[in-house]
Amino acid sequence: MSNTNATFKSMAEGTAEDWGIIANHFPQFLSGLPDRLATHLKLLKGDFGGFPVDRLEHCLQTATRAHRDGRDEEYVMCALLHDIGDTLGTTNHADVAAVILQPFISEENFWIMKHHGIFQGYYFFHYLELDRNGRDAYKDHPHYQACVDFCHNYDQNSFDGDYDSEPLEFFMPMMRRVFAAPKQSLYKEMAAS
Ligand SMILES: [Fe+2]
Ligand SMILES: [Fe+2]
Repeated sequence: MSNTNATFKSMAEGTAEDWGIIANHFPQFLSGLPDRLATHLKLLKGDFGGFPVDRLEHCLQTATRAHRDGRDEEYVMCALLHDIGDTLGTTNHADVAAVILQPFISEENFWIMKHHGIFQGYYFFHYLELDRNGRDAYKDHPHYQACVDFCHNYDQNSFDGDYDSEPLEFFMPMMRRVFAAPKQSLYKEMAAS
């Protein structure tokens, strides 16, 4: 009977058979990523942090607006997950969403995710003794306007308790498509095997 798990105690003593076993598990683990993301996104439910809607509703609303505006599935996934980092990346949430999405999205969408925090600050940093014009440092960047548009059209206006946002289930089929296979990743070949 073949082992279902590798048997090494240190990677230095690992064998081709061990790594064959591990590699065989990887595609199945990758296929579970959308469900793990959904589970983590749900942690934002009921978390208002003083905002008019909870953080899950804000994410759903941002994604719904992007979808209804005709954005493609990759962009809608960015909108849905842009604040998923609030729980663990409380002081750098934009970076968390950016790195989770990075293997599956374009360079432009990654840039939007990574910088949406400082761009969103245009709408409120002046109330917190911060510089609302911090985004100006990126004025000459080719993705500057795309990030302005994300924040203006979908993010800053998604705190409306009366908006009819789609439920998380609505977005799951497109999440499974967007996260089906990485476009760029150290483990891209493993994921495809
Ligand atoms: Fe954010
Ligand atoms: Fe947001």
